[in-house]
Amino acid sequence: MAAGKKVEPTTTSAGKGVETTIISAEHLAKEFKEHSVAEFFKKNKQMLGLYGKVRTLTTVIHEYVTNSLDACEEANILPDIQVKISEIATEYYEVEVKDNGPGLTKETVGKALGQLLAGTKFHRMIQSRGQQGIGSSGCTMLAQTTTGKPCKVITGTGKGKPISLELSIDPKHNLPKIANMKEIDRDFRGLAVQAKFKGVLYRDSEQGPLEYLRRTAIANPHAQIKFTDPTGQKFIFKRSASKVPKPPIAVRPHPKGVTVDEIVTLSKYSDARKVSSFLRTDFDRMGQKSLEGITKRVSFDMNKDPKQLRWDEAEEIVKAFKEIDFIAPSSDALRPIGEERITTSLQNIVDPEFMHVLTRKPQVYSGGFPFQVEVSIAYGGKAGRTISGGSDGPQKRLEIMRFANRSPLLFDAGNCAITKAVHSIDWKRYDIKDIDNAPVTILVNFISVYIPYTGAGKQAIADEEEVIEEIRLALMQSGRKAGRYISGKRKEAERLMKRELFYKYIPEIVAALNAITKTDKEVLDKKLRKMVLLKLKLDDEKDARENGENGNGEGIEVAKKENAHSKSETEKDEAEKTKEEKPEPKKEEHKKETKTKSKKK
Ligand SMILES: Nc1ncnc2c1ncn2[C@@H]1O[C@H](COP(=O)(O)OP(=O)(O)OP(=O)(O)O)[C@@H](O)[C@H]1O
Ligand SMILES: [Mg+2]
Repeated sequence: MAAGKKVEPTTTSAGKGVETTIISAEHLAKEFKEHSVAEFFKKNKQMLGLYGKVRTLTTVIHEYVTNSLDACEEANILPDIQVKISEIATEYYEVEVKDNGPGLTKETVGKALGQLLAGTKFHRMIQSRGQQGIGSSGCTMLAQTTTGKPCKVITGTGKGKPISLELSIDPKHNLPKIANMKEIDRDFRGLAVQAKFKGVLYRDSEQGPLEYLRRTAIANPHAQIKFTDPTGQKFIFKRSASKVPKPPIAVRPHPKGVTVDEIVTLSKYSDARKVSSFLRTDFDRMGQKSLEGITKRVSFDMNKDPKQLRWDEAEEIVKAFKEIDFIAPSSDALRPIGEERITTSLQNIVDPEFMHVLTRKPQVYSGGFPFQVEVSIAYGGKAGRTISGGSDGPQKRLEIMRFANRSPLLFDAGNCAITKAVHSIDWKRYDIKDIDNAPVTILVNFISVYIPYTGAGKQAIADEEEVIEEIRLALMQSGRKAGRYISGKRKEAERLMKRELFYKYIPEIVAALNAITKTDKEVLDKKLRKMVLLKLKLDDEKDARENGENGNGEGIEVAKKENAHSKSETEKDEAEKTKEEKPEPKKEEHKKETKTKSKKK
């Protein structure tokens, strides 16, 4: 209650000498006020991920870059994005993001960047990086609340001259305030935003803008990203794919996973006159056979007006949906990166010794939203997170690259379905003994028409059961492949150690045998070495049997030939020792240059 206001006592109760003053509801009602969404987020900017000095700056970059990528893809333009961060003073930076997208019209630019909860993406069942209409307008507000300065915007749509303007937000009314709007005399198509922020910090760290852009480039190989850091250093992430992904198409909710509330809400807005036609037109994969199945299962007349559909009747429909088999959701609304593109991207940027890449089929989760999971497990090369490791020098650790609709997620890892799924797997089952300390990069891209983020800051995916399960399945499938390679490497090392151990005693045994049998020492030496190799080979076969070789997986598997573990060292050794018995081509093979082997299963 405001200070200095008179309290109106309404009831006084005396009991055991205690007096209580109760404030009336009418009095409290005088304090009742409405506030705009802009005022709400101005006070709660942490909900938009705008807290923590480093995190805030990365989030700002994320919001602008995701918008640029979305806009370019929708306009079928290969994205060319330029990001520049300049330090103005301590913890005071200027951010510039420029794209070659469709730009914004004079009429929409204000609302798009200067009004919260306004945008083109919220109401559609379509995969895009943005979905709330709050990202860039949140940045505009942050700039204004930390520096008192408006954002500078240049937009060019290809029609007429580009315009420049200054933009801020009237938080009380959640409306854009535009100043100095003018046409400019140069060619420009796209959107360029320049905004200043105080209380933020640039770091070249795992959660900094550079790492964010590196991961963006991995998941968006069709985009070209140029970055200038505050020291003036320039980075270019070149595109490795020259086609814009086909734009996703809006889809209707899939019956599996749709909730009672969804059905009741949709039925109220449907133009259909009968429940049967409402179900056919408003849901994905609803054929005649499915409708007949539902009609048989529900107790009410399917010819009734959908607007009159009751909650208990919608419950019957949901129950029927669960019992009926539907075709898997259409993947029209989803655009995975794709196995080939992930492979090329990772080869370019991580250059691993081995990797397995897998794109699973679309599924649905609660709400009828289709989703799809892509994973890759990369081993060796530049895979894994590098830590300083003290006197032992740099060490590699497990790195989990999380993506939602191809956008990197750098924060709130512990709270994210992807991290939970990775840690829920018993990697030892796949012969990956100590995954946390292995030079491994696990990439997971979760795509959906609606990502169940844990908050408006869009940094972690909620651990919905269907989501976790599907990510786990993908990881296990890929883990089997990676495990075979990694355990092969370990076995190779063990085999070499064993061989050295056996070889150490050969001279002594040769001497003893020679003394007893008088057989030529060289012959004995050769035979004993052969025996050792034979023994090690037998071990290999036993290992392979125990592991139950499984060649039925899907996806793409790539291993650098120089690192292929199978028998190479042992065979090389054998070839050298018994040259005269071995056919020549083996030697040729060892001389070959490093190549990668790619096989699609
Ligand atoms: N670079 C851009 N080029 C063209 N249009 C843009 C660009 N940036 C933003 N927009 C438009 O402005 C709208 C608002 O952007 P904003 O980032 O606030 O929300 P969003 O991207 O829709 O959702 P989210 O809050 O999840 O990011 C977008 O929906 C889009 O229509
Ligand atoms: Mg956005």
